[in-house]
Amino acid sequence: MWTNTYPKELLTMTTILVTGATGRVGRHVVQGLLEAGVDVRALVRNPLLAGLPSEVEVAAGDIYDPAAVERAASEVDAAFLLWPSYSAEGAEAVVAALTKQVSRVVYLSSLNVNDEQPAASGVWGEIEVLLADTDWTFLRPGGFMVNTQEWADDIRTGDVVRMPAPGAGRSLIHERDIATVAVRALLDDKHVGQKYPLTGPEVLTQAEQIAVLGDVLGKPIRVEELSADEARQAMVDQGVDPSFADGALAYWSSLVDSPEPVTDTVASLLGRPALTYRTWAEEHADEFRVAPAPDII
Ligand SMILES: NC(=O)c1ccc[n+]([C@@H]2O[C@H](COP(=O)([O-])OP(=O)(O)OC[C@H]3O[C@@H](n4cnc5c(N)ncnc54)[C@H](OP(=O)(O)O)[C@@H]3O)[C@@H](O)[C@H]2O)c1
Repeated sequence: MWTNTYPKELLTMTTILVTGATGRVGRHVVQGLLEAGVDVRALVRNPLLAGLPSEVEVAAGDIYDPAAVERAASEVDAAFLLWPSYSAEGAEAVVAALTKQVSRVVYLSSLNVNDEQPAASGVWGEIEVLLADTDWTFLRPGGFMVNTQEWADDIRTGDVVRMPAPGAGRSLIHERDIATVAVRALLDDKHVGQKYPLTGPEVLTQAEQIAVLGDVLGKPIRVEELSADEARQAMVDQGVDPSFADGALAYWSSLVDSPEPVTDTVASLLGRPALTYRTWAEEHADEFRVAPAPDII
């Protein structure tokens, strides 16, 4: 249930551009903005497949096409920017096109950005640098709870999940919390120039996340630890870049002894605790259940 309590009489924004509007965070951003009473324009690649609420004005176009982004941003008051690639190639021209039209940008960045060296902090930091002359707000979430959907096939079809580093301590965040913060930031200029490190309310190891899922689903689920070599091979077989796989494995292994931090940003901005993994698991339980067989007549 969406609970946007922003006072409508204080709204100064009329139209807001949302990129990534069909994604896991973006759909919640769209919903929150509509409920706050502003007009939403969404940049989408395929309007027929977008499945957005009918009130949304759909602008067809590709985020990597500066002309399409400039058209989509015409006469909007603010933009929610999501860059879907792990490379910043082409981002400079796109950011220039966007900011020709709109100076207020709320960018979905990452907790990975290091303020000492943003340009060396991966694609997220590179884009933050490109946005330096705008009226920016940087949302810097850690890992999303929805990433754990990767276990859904194993849990639907069996009772074992194989993973590296089951003891890795994560402070995963609910995607809706990121979106709720984004909506607040888009609607109120007091968030200009703010960098928000966003996490969930607690650290849970990966094994503890599986235990929560098992509890919610009412079924015991075992965890089997994969060695780093086995996990690397499985990732590479699924098309993951080998150097990315190595980096991810080293990171997860480091979290066994040094779990991720927990920030209180969501609670202090929203005035309520960040949503828990149990809440996420309850909302997504059906994705981890076997679909009932259709009745045969
Ligand atoms: N997952 C994490 O743990 C994590 C942590 C920190 C930061 N992030 C960042 O969060 C962002 C992903 O957010 P998300 O999970 O909400 O997204 P998502 O569910 O992966 O969806 C991606 C969105 O981008 C759109 N998109 C992809 N390519 C496009 C293109 N060429 N032109 C226009 N739109 C395009 C997709 O639209 P279509 O409907 O056209 O596919 C979709 O709306 C990324 O920037 C990621 O780096 C993720």
